[in-house]
Amino acid sequence: MKDQLEKLTEDAFCEIEHVETIHDLNEKKASFLGKKSKLQEIMSKMKDLTAEARKELGLLANQFKIKVEEKIETKRKEIEDKAVLKKLEEEKIDVTLPGKKIKTGTLHPLMSIIEELEDAFIGMGYQIKEGPEVEEDLYNFEMLNLPKGHPAREMQDSFYINETTLLRTHTSPVQAHTLLEAKGKPVKIICPGKVYRRDADDATHSHQFMQCEGLVVGENVTMADLKGTLTHLAHTIFKDELEIRFRPSFFPFTEPSVEVDVQCFKCKGKGCSLCKGSGWIEILGAGMVHPNVLEMAGYDRNKYQGFAFGVGIERIAMLKYGIDDIRQFYINDERFLKQF
Ligand code: PHE
Repeated sequence: MKDQLEKLTEDAFCEIEHVETIHDLNEKKASFLGKKSKLQEIMSKMKDLTAEARKELGLLANQFKIKVEEKIETKRKEIEDKAVLKKLEEEKIDVTLPGKKIKTGTLHPLMSIIEELEDAFIGMGYQIKEGPEVEEDLYNFEMLNLPKGHPAREMQDSFYINETTLLRTHTSPVQAHTLLEAKGKPVKIICPGKVYRRDADDATHSHQFMQCEGLVVGENVTMADLKGTLTHLAHTIFKDELEIRFRPSFFPFTEPSVEVDVQCFKCKGKGCSLCKGSGWIEILGAGMVHPNVLEMAGYDRNKYQGFAFGVGIERIAMLKYGIDDIRQFYINDERFLKQF
């Protein structure tokens, strides 16, 4: 039996040595030391031995148990260490590898025009205002000297939500909101934003587009101030000392009203295909705030004057960047957008 135990020790050491997982190791433990193990088999025969022999065998069995247990624990540690090393190896980070490039987009061309305008006007002490895109007829038309039934409403047919609410047709209703809020005090604002008109979409028209409104109200505000301001606007956008000119026009909320042209930035006024030979390009509508508008908002029409202008952002961007189709701005084609 002593020989059997020695043989068993050898077997146990050999088999445990070759084990590779904790699961297999536990199975080996059971098979060598457990209830149905070979050791138990040997021990069960002890009762047939002499007291002397039993003592000796008991001692040997105990030593066997201790040795095998030790071997198992060493192996367990070895397997666990290996697993940790493997995990470390797998999760190793090479900090010297180049990082993943995050694709950054570019500012939308319309937004970059708006930002340029905002910078320029903040620099002149203006505030940036916003107004609702779903607007009341009251602000979109009536407070702007366009009473119900006024023929000039036809110029700006829109999307009505109900009889008194519509998608704003221009940013001018922000004039009315701002003047009411200012309660008779001077005002200097610009307001960029989306506007909507029931236009058929084509290369130069869209049912939704962007404008930037400007409004200055105070004492002694003159048309010369309007011209100086718009000259600065043109210089800001076209990055050139271009001249501007006024042509008479009509808007119900300004009197006098003007269309504003800028000297063609391509030919500098000589005449080319862009300006159709005229040397000038129309960029916006403007005028002196109509006294009725001031009065409706609670201003003394004899004390206060103001000027206002409304510029189409798409139109400016198309001119500046030579874009021939307004729809390019809205279809989110990266090949187009990446160029700005
Ligand atoms: N609101 C006008 C339009 O959309 C533009 C404008 C604004 C004209 C302010 C004069 C003054 O056509």
